[in-house]
Amino acid sequence: MKRVGIIGYGWVAGANHKMSYAIADDVRIAAVCDLKPERLQVAKEHFGLSDDCLFSDYKALIDSGKVDMVDICTPNNLHCPIAKYALNAGLPVSIEKPVGMNSKEVAEVQALAKEKNLPVFICLTWRHMPTTRFFKDVVDSGIIGKVYHCYIKCIKESGLWEGRRLEWRFDAEQAGSGVLGDLGSHMFDFLNWMNEEIVGLSANSAIFVKERQKVDSDEIAPVTTDDSTSIIANLKSGATANIELTRCAKGLEQLVEFVIFGEKGSITFSNEVGEGLELNITGDEKGRHRVPTPAEYGEQGSIFQSQSFLDMTDGKTDRYTSTLDGGLKAQYVIDAALRSAKEGRYVTIEEIKNEIQ
Ligand SMILES: NC(=O)c1ccc[n+]([C@@H]2O[C@H](COP(=O)([O-])OP(=O)(O)OC[C@H]3O[C@@H](n4cnc5c(N)ncnc54)[C@H](O)[C@@H]3O)[C@@H](O)[C@H]2O)c1
Repeated sequence: MKRVGIIGYGWVAGANHKMSYAIADDVRIAAVCDLKPERLQVAKEHFGLSDDCLFSDYKALIDSGKVDMVDICTPNNLHCPIAKYALNAGLPVSIEKPVGMNSKEVAEVQALAKEKNLPVFICLTWRHMPTTRFFKDVVDSGIIGKVYHCYIKCIKESGLWEGRRLEWRFDAEQAGSGVLGDLGSHMFDFLNWMNEEIVGLSANSAIFVKERQKVDSDEIAPVTTDDSTSIIANLKSGATANIELTRCAKGLEQLVEFVIFGEKGSITFSNEVGEGLELNITGDEKGRHRVPTPAEYGEQGSIFQSQSFLDMTDGKTDRYTSTLDGGLKAQYVIDAALRSAKEGRYVTIEEIKNEIQ
């Protein structure tokens, strides 16, 4: 049985990861690390851990001999330092997205993983859900022909929740960026997964809620990460992509939409409509029809991410596996968009890549 150590037992670990490990084979959570004693207590109850399996220092967890692999779910600035420590200790890692603070540190993790010959999995969660897997397979079937346009929306209201404080996500020193890295990493990877690659872009960012109360005091301090970023991108295939990301859109709790138009028709996913896809393969109104996600893709609402990570540690990968190569590609786009928004100009991915070589 594989023994996993989770580092950072906050929201994503206690919800998504816990659920995803629960439906995976031959695994147990053997140790957990968090700085907050209350989160360690939650983990203790979730996994029935004894006190000697709870850590406040990630190095102590990694060196404990109690785990075979590490799952990193901390704020973004800690992802790469922890991954490097684990790889140097000979352990495979799973890293939450965005992989790091910039492409340079992600490329360093990639070089170390290669040197140590160890797998690194990235939690690009949209690759691990039934309907998005179905979406990929429909795109790969070639049914809509050559792709011309990709329209992607990830629109949330979470930045407007009453009384939300200056958590790490709102601080560039800990998060790197706001919705650009948080939501964008998934969306950039989604495009990559659909066989499309961003080669250059123009980005426009805004901060709407300009200051917030600090988490542990009455002090008010500035928000330094983007509340919204809009991107117009050119793809290697010649197609175009429009990507809208925001956490300040009040009214719909969450709107996630992927629409891909090809020369013969279109494929649409919208969480507002629910599971399944809308397909149009004749290109006219008569061709529009809904296709439920086939049962073979698994129970709706499931996340197969942890199984994919565990398989990777056994050397098994497939067209859904989210690797560090994908994570680094998404990171290039994040860096390019940050620069484009700051400098008000079109930025190529080549420019970002050249700087880290
Ligand atoms: N894949 C997804 O869909 C998805 C969804 C949400 C969040 N995330 C990512 O997951 C990560 C965590 O996000 P979250 O929403 O769970 O944040 P969170 O703030 O709820 O949890 C982070 C946890 O890390 C702990 N922590 C901080 N420093 C630590 C350290 N040095 N050692 C050990 N633990 C430490 C905190 O105490 C906290 O419990 C982020 O990188 C985020 O982008 C991914």
